[in-house]
Amino acid sequence: MSQADVHNFLRAVEFADNIYWVGYADVKAAMQCNPYLIIDGDEAVVIDGGSRPDFPSVMMKILSTGILPSSIMALIYQHYDPDLCGSVPHFEDIIERADLKIIASKSDHMFIRHYSISSTLVSLEELDYQFSFSSGRTLQFVKTPYAHAVGSYVTFDEKSGVLFTSDLFGSYGVELDPFMELGAECLDCEDYDRCPNDKPHCPLPDILRFHQQIFPSEKALRYALEQIAKVPFSTIAPQHGRVISSAKDIEVVWRRLSTLSGVGIDGLIGDRFEFDLDRTSSGPR
Ligand SMILES: [Fe+2]
Ligand SMILES: [Fe+2]
Repeated sequence: MSQADVHNFLRAVEFADNIYWVGYADVKAAMQCNPYLIIDGDEAVVIDGGSRPDFPSVMMKILSTGILPSSIMALIYQHYDPDLCGSVPHFEDIIERADLKIIASKSDHMFIRHYSISSTLVSLEELDYQFSFSSGRTLQFVKTPYAHAVGSYVTFDEKSGVLFTSDLFGSYGVELDPFMELGAECLDCEDYDRCPNDKPHCPLPDILRFHQQIFPSEKALRYALEQIAKVPFSTIAPQHGRVISSAKDIEVVWRRLSTLSGVGIDGLIGDRFEFDLDRTSSGPR
């Protein structure tokens, strides 16, 4: 069995204090999907739980940590896409808690409610932008609107320093390892085709292309980066691509994203477009 198979089908990977990667490779989409599990005593939450077809793989990894499904108190969805939310009814069935909560931005409830059958939808606003376990361990929610959905936000675990960023810092590509390591040499390197470290594959083009295609605009991406710059995180855990733990590696990706051009609509029409009412034949007169 290959290393990829091990990650995909057999085990959760603990990468911070009681924080587990429980992801899978979406081979058809050529992407890694990364739901995460946080355990705190006999309580747990799942972040961006994953798609419907991949629920067995995710749930098997969750069970491999030894927790009971009924210890999951809340499902956190950082936006409404089906690769995060498709398995909501499966989670609801197996968790079987009448008080199970789905936490999401108020503006995303209108979409997420279509996945849910029995949970109570709770907004960030109702929670005053934080969720606390009984122990006092607290998750902070920081809004990153339109990065890439209207209600997008990130989740910061104060105890571990992990920032769960959903599609922000995401990437295309299926990897053998859920953890990314670059190097100091990558800070200024732009030769993505010929790695000076002789690595067979540079992950940066996949990360940049992902943001150019999934995010709506350069402004939305940069605004999101500015919001999370205020958060004292040490590890970035995105919903696609790989977990980044080294400060240098975070800086490499951060710097590339903060100057990235051609994002979303800016890549399609850029500065060339100016709306001209006279050019439209059916517009209001
Ligand atoms: Fe998304
Ligand atoms: Fe996604």
